[in-house]
Amino acid sequence: MTLVDAAPGLSDISVADTEIGDVRGNEGFFHYNRYSAIDLARSSSFERVWFLFVYGRLPEPAELDAFVETVRRHRHVDPGLLDFARTVGATGQTHRPLIDLRTVLSAAAQYTGMSPLWDTDEATRRENGIQLCAMVPTLLAAVHRAAHGLEPVRPRDDLDTAGYWLHAVTGQEVETGEIRALEQYLVATVEHGFNASTFTARVIASTGADLPSAICGAIGAFSGPLHGGAPDRALDALDAIVARGGPEMTVATVGEVATGWARDELAAGRRLMGFGHAVYRTHDPRSELLREVARGLGGRLAEVAVEVERAVVAVLAEARPDRPRYANVEFYAGVVMDRCGLPREMFTPTFTVSRVVGWTANALEQAHDRHIIRPRATYVGPAVTDRPSDVAHPEVR
Ligand code: ACO
Repeated sequence: MTLVDAAPGLSDISVADTEIGDVRGNEGFFHYNRYSAIDLARSSSFERVWFLFVYGRLPEPAELDAFVETVRRHRHVDPGLLDFARTVGATGQTHRPLIDLRTVLSAAAQYTGMSPLWDTDEATRRENGIQLCAMVPTLLAAVHRAAHGLEPVRPRDDLDTAGYWLHAVTGQEVETGEIRALEQYLVATVEHGFNASTFTARVIASTGADLPSAICGAIGAFSGPLHGGAPDRALDALDAIVARGGPEMTVATVGEVATGWARDELAAGRRLMGFGHAVYRTHDPRSELLREVARGLGGRLAEVAVEVERAVVAVLAEARPDRPRYANVEFYAGVVMDRCGLPREMFTPTFTVSRVVGWTANALEQAHDRHIIRPRATYVGPAVTDRPSDVAHPEVR
């Protein structure tokens, strides 16, 4: 067998066939199954799209009703698991909800009795997948509230995922406009090709391990700032620009302030969070949708963000004319979530509420293929000596 030298990050390698969806980086387009993801975000509920990821087709109205009922039922997690989530959330010096979720989901395999994928039939895997995804908002909200000394909110059976999530985190009544804004974000972020977390989930699923293990691994990969951990940092950057501009900054002068800020950041060797993408070579269609959603919600921050985007894209192009980089999904995500009343530390967890559906679909698709994913590495260390006895060492201990 001839080994192929892959590009750094494996960006030039296709490692699986998938029917789940695809990202066309040069076109600025991505789709779920046969549907444009952005069209779905504009027209569909989160649950309808979730059904698509489970069954590979959109539901009939009665099927959707039954699916919604199943999801609502699974939000009510085992009281022992909920207690464990509260303990985990209330423990530790710093509140890191995703890391807490990872810990709690490890326990979920035991509480729910989810067996290894290798030993599970198709119907059971699907049911496990729906259960696991439906539990995530409840568990994430519980760890978050426990970290702030608050009791979990009892699952609301009259709300779909977007509204339930906002209510479960804040404990407040939520407005329809905010629910729909967040729902569009959730639909647009369910899945996005073989990114690092999805690939991680598939690698774990390829070993035949249980679904919670695959999702825990994906969460670990997702928590890094180069992947899912950027929306709060993108909003921090907006704050830094607003602070730099001072009280006299107007929407008309934001561009100038943002240009100076971006040049200084690049000169200091820092990355501009919320910009650039590993696959898109043009605009990220999610950021275009979320710009619209953010502006629809109104407020000064959205208008400031539009000016900042324009200025930062220009500075990035000036630095690398050969490699234009644009706002990615994270840039406006923070603005939308902030406007919906979510605290900054819950931005990446919100992304997780939708992305867990994509990870699950990928893990279950991978489980059909009974081959373990096992690439090779090229050894570049010191030359190997002929015999172990040639290695000088004082004594064997
Ligand atoms: N700020 C400064 N420089 C950047 C940025 C940025 N936002 N993005 C890319 N670059 C630089 C890279 O360091 C690289 O420089 P080099 O050639 O000197 O090494 C060059 O631009 C080209 O990089 P790309 O090939 O376009 O991007 P890559 O695939 O390496 O990285 C990534 C993609 C990780 C998203 C990067 O753009 C980045 O770090 N962005 C900021 C973090 C961020 O917003 N992450 C969220 C991504 S969206 C998501 O995962 C859901």
